[in-house]
Amino acid sequence: MNGILLAPSILSADFGRLAEDVAACQEAGADWIHVDVMDGHFVPNITMGPVVVEAVRKATNLPVDVHLMIEAPERFLGAFVAAGADRITVHQETCPHLHRTLQRILELGAATGVALNPSTPVEMVSDVAHDVDLLVIMTVNPGFGGQTYIPGSTEKVLRARRMLSAMGRGDMLIQVDGGVDASTASVVAAAGAEVLVAGSAVFRHPGGILGGMAALRGALSAGNTLPGGHPRD
Ligand code: DX5
Ligand code: ZN
Repeated sequence: MNGILLAPSILSADFGRLAEDVAACQEAGADWIHVDVMDGHFVPNITMGPVVVEAVRKATNLPVDVHLMIEAPERFLGAFVAAGADRITVHQETCPHLHRTLQRILELGAATGVALNPSTPVEMVSDVAHDVDLLVIMTVNPGFGGQTYIPGSTEKVLRARRMLSAMGRGDMLIQVDGGVDASTASVVAAAGAEVLVAGSAVFRHPGGILGGMAALRGALSAGNTLPGGHPRD
């Protein structure tokens, strides 16, 4: 399971020393920095906006992966790209005109992502797959860090991987977001996820950011088999 990308979510970082925490993630081998934007409407929590993305951009040269958990995200795409976002993920549930929203992200020069809540079927992206670089399977209900991985999500990642292969979009990245830790990381990777977001497992690890990242890498290199012995496609 080499080649799995780790994207620490700064939602669980120490905001009093955000630049240092982001630099520590990079030093510890992070591949992307994940920024969780919440508006208190689509999800029951309010977090950060473009100014925080700007601060993250200054603290790292890693790709900045912005996850918009906001209603009508099209209003803010330009501001987030101007602030330094390399990748923008919108929720399918917030975009009645998802095709148009994805075109706008592409026009702005960022990579596109579509996130699906736990109750949203993977087929909801099939008709826009051509314009999607990253499919984000939410493995918790979005809104907070530190929640428990929803077990049925592993089967959903498998279904997503099979659907993308069948569509000839085996190149689309699958990201898993929520409840990823040393026990779930290898399971989702075995199911076909290539980008793992981790907040508490990185920032709340007793060994600090370095310890958290090492624990995730260790779990991934130890590998895992899927419950029920599903082979990965
Ligand atoms: C959840 C966010 C996640 C969250 C992950 O709404 O999208 O990115 O920060 O946190 P952990 O890894 O603690 O579940
Ligand atoms: Zn996220």
